[in-house]
Amino acid sequence: MPSFQTTPGTRDILPPDAARWRSFVEEFDAVVSLAGFQHIVVPMFEDLGVFQRLGDATDVVTKEMYDFVDKGGRHVALRPEQTAGVCRSFAQHRPLPPWKVWYSGPNFRYERAQHGRYRQFDQVGVEALGSDDPLLDVEVIALAVEFFQNLGLRNVVLNINSLGDSGDRARYVEALSQYFQGHISELSPESVATLERNPLRVLDSKRESEQAVVAQAPSISGFLSDEAASHFAQVKQGLDALDIAYVVNERLVRGLDYYCRTTFEFQSTALESAQTAVGGGGRYDGLVEDLGGPATPGIGFAIGLDRTLLACDAEQVFPHPSTKADVFVIDTTGGMQALQLCQQFRTAGFASDRAYGGRAMKAQMKAADKSGATYAVIIGTDELSQGVATVKSMVDGQQEEILLDAVVQHVAAQLGKVNS
Ligand code: HAM
Repeated sequence: MPSFQTTPGTRDILPPDAARWRSFVEEFDAVVSLAGFQHIVVPMFEDLGVFQRLGDATDVVTKEMYDFVDKGGRHVALRPEQTAGVCRSFAQHRPLPPWKVWYSGPNFRYERAQHGRYRQFDQVGVEALGSDDPLLDVEVIALAVEFFQNLGLRNVVLNINSLGDSGDRARYVEALSQYFQGHISELSPESVATLERNPLRVLDSKRESEQAVVAQAPSISGFLSDEAASHFAQVKQGLDALDIAYVVNERLVRGLDYYCRTTFEFQSTALESAQTAVGGGGRYDGLVEDLGGPATPGIGFAIGLDRTLLACDAEQVFPHPSTKADVFVIDTTGGMQALQLCQQFRTAGFASDRAYGGRAMKAQMKAADKSGATYAVIIGTDELSQGVATVKSMVDGQQEEILLDAVVQHVAAQLGKVNS
């Protein structure tokens, strides 16, 4: 046993998976950049107060925060998500709205670690600040839909809901609380505890025994103000206009408290575990003000990279990018030829690799096979004395002798043919 292993809820992302992660972010960048979103990087830790705005009744704030007092006596926390940091950044720098930004990177929540749920997990996401136009909600949702499609995912379901404005939400929470109090004997002890902290979250219960009582609970739609109802109707019309399929799920409550009006979540039906939410988001029209900035509406989403890649595995899409070498140089004359040729191939833009440590021909040939290279360039003592190299196609086994000085040009021309 090694002395140390990764701590629970954290993982090493080894090659070639790490390359797949990078492609994931590049694909996201490509999709959102076309819609005018610009990259932003916010700190990985901030003043704890920034994240307390996520809601003092949420698990994220009360149970899962990685917070500590730093050496300067500041109470800080690792970010559990990036929306609050982006809004803090907006309030601090006051850019001209609309401000459309995208981000990627790790987040930290002290959750019960399991398959698809980690304590350090990555997200990609967007935030659009400065407009309450319902068609912006549609555009933002459409970006996530397009991204999932570009990954090749076919089994992702969009759930949408409206939580209304803060007054609507407060009236609804009150009604919900009364309803559940009236049925308290039908609730599990866990839900009774949740009811005290956050009645909305009782709707999230997955316990079989409570499904009937949850199903009968009042719906948010009956509590929406005219403005909020009209906003939601326009969002649905916009989604219809773009032919985006969705399910209106009035039981959809998000785990963070800053939401109002439009909320949404993407569920992968290809994932069998309990962790099927691959992304989620919504409006948070009060958050910037709450963080000391000017009243500014906002909407965004985040997609869980770890979990979405599990969905990609389940659907067998979005494989990791090829790590194959173009050329493998086999040198049994001491290694200097391999050193120089690899360098020349790389300068010419070809992926080249070699074995180290003066290994025997057979071992080097094996390494060449493993590298997946299209060509092997072989230099033994005979070849070197004649100033040539053997160029072997690893595809059909054909080989020819080429002057050492011309090898790079020759292979480059062949690869040009192969790659085109
Ligand atoms: P969230 O629903 O907490 O929203 O997280 C978004 C996604 O991150 C989830 O759907 C899931 O895929 C992934 N995720 C969350 N927690 C974990 C975990 N412990 N392990 C693995 N994956 C996880 C937010 O974070 C909001 N900031 C989204 C947003 C942006 N709302 C408005 N703008």
